[in-house]
Amino acid sequence: MVSSGGPRHPVRVAPSLLSADLSDIRQACRVAEQAGAEILHLDVMDGRFVPNLTFGPLVVGAVRRCTKLYLDVHLMMVHPEEFLDAFARAGANGITVHAEACSHLQRTLAAIRASGARAGVALNPATPESAVEYVWDDCDLILAMTVNPGFGGQAFLPAVLEKVRRLRAQAETRGWSGNIEVDGGITADTAPAVVAAGADTLVAGSAVYGQQDVVASFHRLRQSAGDGPAHAEGS
Ligand code: DX5
Ligand code: ZN
Repeated sequence: MVSSGGPRHPVRVAPSLLSADLSDIRQACRVAEQAGAEILHLDVMDGRFVPNLTFGPLVVGAVRRCTKLYLDVHLMMVHPEEFLDAFARAGANGITVHAEACSHLQRTLAAIRASGARAGVALNPATPESAVEYVWDDCDLILAMTVNPGFGGQAFLPAVLEKVRRLRAQAETRGWSGNIEVDGGITADTAPAVVAAGADTLVAGSAVYGQQDVVASFHRLRQSAGDGPAHAEGS
């Protein structure tokens, strides 16, 4: 029953730039690199799909010029299909769209791959995992939101753990080799549970950039997620 439980997948922590000091993007990139991050998570919000506004392709391009890190671009916007090429050209390595925002999800995922980026599907906390049932082969990442998207610093929703477990179980049954990502309220306290449930990519804003010592906080979080050489060998 707990077969999908153990951290058998290498776990990566993706700092979310949303909580960084955006007046110094270059420094925010540098500190993520210094901490040993492999992925930087970029939150695009349109004021429609979510009640907040952030940035678009122009800023993603600016981040691209500051770092070689993998850019994981999370589109919290309506009609994401209209901007896929713009984000890919700006330097996104992965583009994640919300299932709730796509009338033609399979087509949008195919368009992301055609743009050269890895394709991700995000699910709001209340959206069941069945939303991805017919697109497993079309995506490289599934993002289970662990807060309602729109803001950093919100409390983790433990009900989503069951969805992560189900997604991991299905991924194993299908032999699917993509990533299962969680985003929202991830801290050193909540990370062990999401990893045990089967998540392999942990987005964290407040728990990394929101802290005084970003590098130490990143390491603490990664350690709490069971990552590091000991985990990799023991998995
Ligand atoms: C929320 C965003 C997250 C956000 C998470 O809608 O999608 O990526 O940065 O922030 P924390 O880690 O503070 O919950
Ligand atoms: Zn996000």
